[in-house]
Amino acid sequence: MNEKAEVPAPPGPASSVFGAALPAVERFVELLAAAGIERGLIGPREVERLWDRHVLNSAVVGERIPEGARVVDVGSGAGLPGIPLILARPDLDVTLLEPMARRVAWLEEVVETLALNATVIRGRAEEPAIKQRLAGADVVIARAVAPLERLWGWSAPLLRQGGRLVALKGESAEAEVARDQAAVGRAGGGHLMVERCGVGVLDVPTTIIEVERMSAQGREGVRGRRSRRTRQDQGH
Ligand SMILES: C[S@@+](CC[C@H](N)C(=O)[O-])C[C@H]1O[C@@H](n2cnc3c(N)ncnc32)[C@H](O)[C@@H]1O
Repeated sequence: MNEKAEVPAPPGPASSVFGAALPAVERFVELLAAAGIERGLIGPREVERLWDRHVLNSAVVGERIPEGARVVDVGSGAGLPGIPLILARPDLDVTLLEPMARRVAWLEEVVETLALNATVIRGRAEEPAIKQRLAGADVVIARAVAPLERLWGWSAPLLRQGGRLVALKGESAEAEVARDQAAVGRAGGGHLMVERCGVGVLDVPTTIIEVERMSAQGREGVRGRRSRRTRQDQGH
């Protein structure tokens, strides 16, 4: 992979967040700054903020993920937040899920180049085969993929009961929770929380929304419950 590009040096917090993995993270940043831009995975203006806004911002969500968890990064794109998370937390079992072929090719190349212990799967979270394959995850992570209600609808079937969605969101987090809380609750999600990760480490901590899968309802979602009610109404 072409990796010639001017890239900023890692900022101070990078060594405490990544420890011994820092050289591999620097390599990932170089790849994003060169091939990642050439291939349209990130915009050229992102280069100067790769560390703060993308890589460190992604890795600190590890604070919300228990030791040894099985994690699915829904809509991984260029590998965010999944790849920085794997590098910061090698104890995790991470699957990078992405529907677009050229992004899947990129993810596979990065996983191979950095010798990461991660699985790349091509598909959409809502596809039956994907739900069957990935069901039972402890944590779903996602950044910039969909509004909360839709994201929960895609995430719930992938989660075990008691598993959690950790959605990286910006300043809109509180408003999204207020707007979508009732719909998420109807689809089996509870204990909605807005939290900040990387406080005292990053200048701008990462804002996340967490949702816990409360019941088996999350497996089928609103449409599943509606159709079951319809069948019951029809006497089936
Ligand atoms: C705006 S990009 C964000 C990529 C990456 N998470 C990031 O923060 O840079 C949204 C990504 O979600 C993927 N995506 C969209 N719908 C999806 C679905 N139903 N299931 C899985 N991934 C999806 C897209 O292909 C795209 O790569």
